[in-house]
Amino acid sequence: MTTLPQSQSPDDLEFAARRRSFDIQNALRGDWHGDSAFKTAWFNALSLLFPLGEKFFIDSVVHYKDEVHDPRLATEIAAFRAQEATHRIQHQRYNELLCELRGYALDAFEVSQRKRIAWAYRELTPRRRLAGTVASEHLTAIMAHDMLSHDDVLAGADPRIAELWQWHGVEETEHKAVAFDVYLAVGGTVKERRRALLLNTFFFFKDAFRNLCIMLKSDGKLWSVREWASGFKYLFIKPGILRRVFRTWLHFFRRDFHPWEFDNRYLVAEWESSERNEHLKSSSH
Ligand SMILES: [Fe+2]
Ligand SMILES: [Fe+2]
Repeated sequence: MTTLPQSQSPDDLEFAARRRSFDIQNALRGDWHGDSAFKTAWFNALSLLFPLGEKFFIDSVVHYKDEVHDPRLATEIAAFRAQEATHRIQHQRYNELLCELRGYALDAFEVSQRKRIAWAYRELTPRRRLAGTVASEHLTAIMAHDMLSHDDVLAGADPRIAELWQWHGVEETEHKAVAFDVYLAVGGTVKERRRALLLNTFFFFKDAFRNLCIMLKSDGKLWSVREWASGFKYLFIKPGILRRVFRTWLHFFRRDFHPWEFDNRYLVAEWESSERNEHLKSSSH
């Protein structure tokens, strides 16, 4: 049994799940992101991946909880589990409301993800599944960082839905290294996590674009050149949210990479202080 610290997070890092609910029902009915069908469908497509994905993340981390002897990492696993479980609940509600309000079939979005998760349980070792989770957590962490540090990602979005995305991004930032530290503690290798990132990035975008196309088709906008041109611009040119995260995506391939090599907790602090101001404003009315 090792007594070495297994958590490599900053010493004063503390986080817990925030119990939240969001008033999103009315906004989800329409194109809530800048009146853009593409941007709306892009975020909705991501939301549709979370309930199944986050269950997989929780299970692959919790599988190793008895091998974690560092009490700090054990506490972080518990907080990670609580945060991801809350995200699942909120995104499940989001997805059910979305499908009900816009006439989509929820099953159609989840079918390929369900199949792949079943394949992962059948074919992959628990540690390889954990490597997949580590890779996915890198993707969510870099996208959350980009969203929290640039107003242009959610500019023009309905504030009630933007609130949900920001809350999720903040918690993804706080727990970004938990799966990674568990992976190191159980002897995860650099080669395995690099391969997992390549594979997971491919499937993440494949699923996201698949969901996006299902929605645009159902909305009668799948062949709209205008939507695709503006969507391409949003993702790759200006603001270019995927172009912007490419450099930090690459950091993961470095041998000595660790998610906390870049301490971006200032974004959490900024979000918390803006939340406090909002609360003060609303309670003074
Ligand atoms: Fe999450
Ligand atoms: Fe996460």
